[in-house]
Formats: sequence, C-alpha cells, structure tokens
Amino acid sequence: MRLAVLASGTGSICRAIVDAGVEVAAVLVDRDCPAIDLAEADNRPVLLVERDDFGTKFDRNQYSNEVVAALGNENIDVVAMAGFGTILGASFFDAYRGRVLNTHPSLLPSFPGWHAVRDALRHGVQITGCTVHIATLEVDAGPILAQAAVEIRDDDDEASLHERIKLLERDLYPATIKKFLADMETQR
Ligand code: GRF
Repeated sequence: MRLAVLASGTGSICRAIVDAGVEVAAVLVDRDCPAIDLAEADNRPVLLVERDDFGTKFDRNQYSNEVVAALGNENIDVVAMAGFGTILGASFFDAYRGRVLNTHPSLLPSFPGWHAVRDALRHGVQITGCTVHIATLEVDAGPILAQAAVEIRDDDDEASLHERIKLLERDLYPATIKKFLADMETQR
C-alpha cells in the first residue's frame, strides 16, 4: 500500500506520521510551505501541485484532476490529509473512494470547517478534541475512525488549544493510519 500525505501548513502532523514509522511514499502540497522542507530533508518525493488561484474563479475540478494525476504517477493507493488547505472535488474522491483519511481538530460532528478550534472556544464548550475519519466529498463528514478529547482551560486561546489538540493528533492519527493500512492489506 503506497501512502501519500497531503499538507499545506507547518507539516507537524506529517512529521508525526513519518516519525511513527508509517511508510510515506510521497508528500503532496498545494503551495510553498514548510512541509516541503520536511519531506525534502528525508529525500521523500514532493509533489507540488501549485494552486495559483485562491479567488472565486478557482477551478476545483481541474485542480482535483491534477492532484489525481500526480498521485497516479507515484502509484498512490491511500491518501492521508494532514492540514491540506484545498477542498478537493469529485474526481479525487471517486479515484480514492474510501481510501482518504483526514484528521480534524474537533470532536466531529461538532465544529466542522476551517475554524474548528476558534468555533469551539466561541461556543464555550468545555471539551473538544480531534477526529480521524474517512474523508468524503462532503467536508468533515465521513465515517469516524477514532477520536480523542481535550479539556478546554479558562486561559486557552486558539493557539494554545490547537497545540494541545495537535499533541493528541500526532499520536492518534499515525496509529489510526497504521491500523487502516493493515486492515486494507488483510482485505487484499
Ligand atoms: C491539524 O490540526 C489538522 O487537524 C488540521 O490542520 C492541522 C495541521 O497541522 N486539519 P500542521 O500544519 O501539520 O501542524
């Protein structure tokens, strides 16, 4: 099973996946970001499918096709999203149906979307966390594979809370990916 990690941000979740001993065949990014340096430092193939338009004219289908083609060139079987900043379209989810994993910084179905940590704070919930799930065309909505909870502290801000959630994600996500890959191998 060849796994690709999709990232746009700091790449800390991607790093945790690699450090946990998960075999990562390639890292795909949509922009210049620290995840590139991280992958290059390990001599891992970096697939830069650059998104040049963040406006209303962005062609999501075309971009998704480019992502599918880049992953196809590396014979990727399974995809793990790790802070990937572009919502992908139907061609991607058709090509990798049931084989796309994501980690989200809230206890889904609460607080889907880009601002999950901020939304949890604004809502005044006392417990939030992270969710590893199978990603589908509908954002942050696929079947849940694993969750872990974090207590919100009185003095938390978005950054401090997100960092504590990421501490959990860095354990839970690699462990869940490993189990998913092992289950897929036994089903082959
Ligand atoms: C994680 O919290 C993940 O759940 C969210 O984006 C963050 C990625 O963190 N989708 P990093 O950029 O790998 O540090």
